[in-house]
Amino acid sequence: MLSLIYVSTVAPGFRTAELEALTERAAAINAANGMTGMLAYNGTHFMQLLEGEAAAVDDTLARISADPRHSGLVVIRRDSRPARECPDWTMRAFLTPLEGAGSATRLAASLPVNFAADSRVIFTSFASLPRVAA
Ligand SMILES: Cc1cc2nc3c(=O)[nH]c(=O)nc-3n(C[C@H](O)[C@H](O)[C@H](O)COP(=O)(O)O)c2cc1C
Repeated sequence: MLSLIYVSTVAPGFRTAELEALTERAAAINAANGMTGMLAYNGTHFMQLLEGEAAAVDDTLARISADPRHSGLVVIRRDSRPARECPDWTMRAFLTPLEGAGSATRLAASLPVNFAADSRVIFTSFASLPRVAA
């Protein structure tokens, strides 16, 4: 099982209202490719976890990298894992920071139980970043 996390910069024209459609389409394609993961979006950056068979992850990442809705994609973690961290999410999006007190704490509580400790730190750190108005 290949697992990777990347961050990228949201394209200037991208609107928050587009996130749901993007995620639905991604989830449908991922379901057909045996891919799972999660996506966090804070208005200026994306952070996404992708997991699946190596060929499927690489193919998906190639399509995502070429997508004009973001740029400057950097893979910050890529390794082989014994099991999926998001087995039930063909793709689930989180708009961060989450509303209410303690976005990082709230995101942590929403993550699957088998989410790895390092992934948890990476995503909760991202969730603690403020949203910058476009
Ligand atoms: C931030 C972001 C995350 C995406 N995540 C996925 C994903 O998990 N799976 C996927 O198939 N496409 C994802 N996409 C969409 C792909 O970039 C692409 O539009 C889609 O795979 C269809 O590919 P095609 O336009 O070459 O047919 C994502 C796009 C963006 C901007």
